[in-house]
Amino acid sequence: MAILEILTYPDGFLKKKATPVMDIDEGLRRLFEDMADTMYAAPGVGLAATQIGCDKSIIVFDPTADKENRPYQVLVNPTIIAAEGQVLSENEGCLSVPEYRADVKRAESAIVEGLDREGKPVRIEAEGLLAIILQHEIDHLNGVLFIDRISALKREIYKRKVKKQLKNSA
Ligand code: NI
Repeated sequence: MAILEILTYPDGFLKKKATPVMDIDEGLRRLFEDMADTMYAAPGVGLAATQIGCDKSIIVFDPTADKENRPYQVLVNPTIIAAEGQVLSENEGCLSVPEYRADVKRAESAIVEGLDREGKPVRIEAEGLLAIILQHEIDHLNGVLFIDRISALKREIYKRKVKKQLKNSA
């Protein structure tokens, strides 16, 4: 069991685009476990490799946040191949943007393709919370945070708050 450090805004690594995984080996399987440990410990419902300073295209997620049974899923090289409708994801949050929540416009449903932890192709037809989690985590792999999807004014207020906090703690 390994709990990894989660990078937080304004760490520049969070803007990095992930690179596709070519080969799922023993080392990666350990990384999946470590990512799940980190997600459950946080606690969160999803985690992208970008958030732990790894540039590989990997996400783990569990909308049930069930620490006991850990029914998490791994998606390697996930891509949104179709998205439909629009919902307001209320009070969305992110482990990399601590102590901040905002409403974000998201697609209502999404079809996501990728590989599972064994490297087998999977296709997920998601709606509700799962669709929102997948969009949020795949955004991370593209270097996008949920605060990039809110109004410029709200984002500016948040950024100023963080700057002030960093200054005060320096
Ligand atoms: Ni996040």
